[in-house]
Amino acid sequence: MNARTDIPRFASMEKAISALRPAEPVYCLHPEKFKVAAQRFLDGFPGDAMYAVKANPAPQVLDLVWAAGIRHFDTASLGEVEMIKTRFPEAICHFMSPVRIPGHARVSFERFGVTDYVVDCDFELDKLIAETGDPGKLRIFVRLVTQLGGALLELSSKFGTTPDEAAALLKRIGKLGAQPALTFHVGSQCLSPFSYAQAIEIVRRTLDKAGVKIAALDIGGGFPGPYTNNDVPPYLWYFDTIKEALATLDLPGMPIFCEPGRALIAEGLSLITQVVLRKADRLFINDGTYGSFDELTLPGFNADYPNRVFTVDAKGRALPLPGAPRPFRVYGPTCDTLDVLPRPQMLPEGIGPGDFIVFDAIGAYSVAVRTGFNGFYPDQWVQIGN
Ligand SMILES: Cc1ncc(COP(=O)(O)O)c(C=O)c1O
Repeated sequence: MNARTDIPRFASMEKAISALRPAEPVYCLHPEKFKVAAQRFLDGFPGDAMYAVKANPAPQVLDLVWAAGIRHFDTASLGEVEMIKTRFPEAICHFMSPVRIPGHARVSFERFGVTDYVVDCDFELDKLIAETGDPGKLRIFVRLVTQLGGALLELSSKFGTTPDEAAALLKRIGKLGAQPALTFHVGSQCLSPFSYAQAIEIVRRTLDKAGVKIAALDIGGGFPGPYTNNDVPPYLWYFDTIKEALATLDLPGMPIFCEPGRALIAEGLSLITQVVLRKADRLFINDGTYGSFDELTLPGFNADYPNRVFTVDAKGRALPLPGAPRPFRVYGPTCDTLDVLPRPQMLPEGIGPGDFIVFDAIGAYSVAVRTGFNGFYPDQWVQIGN
């Protein structure tokens, strides 16, 4: 895919701010960071990494994920399957949501050739078989519950089943003529590599109960982003721990997948915001929790995006704003009192209207969940570097 020509490019963040002095929020793509993130998985993960499209489905982001070499996609809705197959016809889509809207599996299978699906109960299995009508072509992953506590956001109270029920489902899948497989998700922003080893131990117990040979294992997403307030272990620790745990399954040659969302795109995006008003230690900026900052408000999510502050001098040059950092309450632009970043942000003491706060590593679950509430919808894009 050729580089996009419709996105303004700047050599540096300073150059972008000097040239634009944007009054509206601006998303800044860093192509090099997408490459580094993808390469980590292509080199270090012992299998194929699917990009979890839900983390950021913006076409600008998808193009950079594709250009970085990712070819598998965790598409968890018909809309995502359609989006990916239309944009990248050679992409391999895996429909990795255990509960599907009636009719979606049929269209994914018949029109887009998707053969990987997830279930966590008999009802969804029956529905999947009825809609696709050809179990011999399907690989069906059973989703396990893994309530392990290493992640900021758990993903096992809504989906997943116990080893006993999973074992029964695996047997049924085999009898129906489809290929049985297993999957789990340790939770998002998982700060403990050991959580993956614990989950793989649940896989081992499930396989013992089922007595079935699985055709694949998908260890989900959860790999963390480099936020402030979080001690993020090196990725190598995750990959080494996963490799060691997989060896205990003694299933050489079995296809292994993971479904990183955050880890493939968080660092590739920064956001330029502008300070509109300062009242003592309270700042009002042009984006907020109904825009790019929703994830910060989720219960249990105690991380923040790293920030840098720039001011524009009399010659129009953007420069880092000096000054000792101190805590500020930061409010978004809407009329809602709840539109405030949940934790104070450490910012230079002299910050004021017209200054720019750049939030880094903001690629995950920001663009994806922004709303147009109150008439504010951030959607200006630039690229920094090549
Ligand atoms: C099934 C599934 N896979 C992958 C992901 C991506 O997770 P993460 O962004 O933590 O890697 C999610 C996130 O909700 C998910 O639900």
